Amino acid sequence: MKRLVSGIKPTGEFTLGNYIGAIKQFVEMQKDYESFVFVADLHALTVYNDPEVLRTRIRELIGIYLACGLDPKHTTLFVQSENLFHANLSWVLECNSYVGELSRMTQFKDKSKNKGNESISCGLFTYPALMAADILMYDADVVPVGVDQKQHVELARNIAERFNNRYGKTFKVPDPMIPEAGAKIYDLQNPTKKMSKTDESGKGCIMLLEDPSVARKKIMSAVTDSESKVYYDKENKPGISNLLVIYSLLEHISIEEATQKFGESNYGSFKTAVADSVEKFLVELQAKYNEIVESGLIDEVLDASNKKVRKIAEEKVLDVFKKVGVGRY
Ligand code: TYM
Repeated sequence: MKRLVSGIKPTGEFTLGNYIGAIKQFVEMQKDYESFVFVADLHALTVYNDPEVLRTRIRELIGIYLACGLDPKHTTLFVQSENLFHANLSWVLECNSYVGELSRMTQFKDKSKNKGNESISCGLFTYPALMAADILMYDADVVPVGVDQKQHVELARNIAERFNNRYGKTFKVPDPMIPEAGAKIYDLQNPTKKMSKTDESGKGCIMLLEDPSVARKKIMSAVTDSESKVYYDKENKPGISNLLVIYSLLEHISIEEATQKFGESNYGSFKTAVADSVEKFLVELQAKYNEIVESGLIDEVLDASNKKVRKIAEEKVLDVFKKVGVGRY
């Protein structure tokens, strides 16, 4: 069976973008792939987080994964930092990456823009090498991610190929898997910008654990345009197109079907339908989430998977150490 590997960083609250761009794929693919899905908590350290809040978010994310439908029978869920080997492999991969290629990562460029070198952590710069370690550790065949992470997966491919050429076949070269629809969900107030957990006003971003009635209001006040006709046109109608994508994915229909349904509707009734859909999704998700949190399942699942992921990782890291010549054996 082919392997799927992916993760989410527990900084800020988890968003509808995380669900549509990533978690939904993991759930749909888990029966066909041996899946490893984790909480990328070491990646969270590239910026300062309150340690107690970070710890809370780690559990929260496992609860969300389970509530969204990841099934421990198909998916090994784990916390990145609990498998100490990730950081070991990351170091070796950093030593096989170049400052030039890391400097070209658009996420690094965006996040470091307008900041002096004295305030950008080295971790923000080397972050893609740790991400490559997460992926290459488990010989991933596919890495489902939203489009913003595609460049990092491509870098992981390059690092794997470079390492294999230098030291002999060690890593599987992974493929990014970007969903056809929903690879980038946009901010509701500024629909040319990614919906992001770091959104300051919070009005443009739907959080998975927020009050569903608040989410409803955000959809109702989403920015649209003045045409008053519902159809998909990303360039000229980014707000309406974003809502169409959200609606069609939550309702499991195509964008064409959604357009047919609302083509002649006014924006008010279209938004009401999208708001109903989002609200229903959140109410159901949160009911499952609360049940999971109370059941004690989160620790049970993590305790059971730790041994498995550590064993795979230890074998890989020892093989890598041997190939590069560190250690005595
Ligand atoms: P992160 O935590 O920023 O995002 C997690 C996943 O959610 C997707 N995503 C979106 N998709 C569509 N629309 C949006 N608005 C949106 N916002 C977020 C992201 O593309 C991503 O798939 N570095 C990674 C975490 C990571 C990882 C890995 C991923 C660490 N190691 C190994 C895959 C494999 C990150 O910060 O994602």
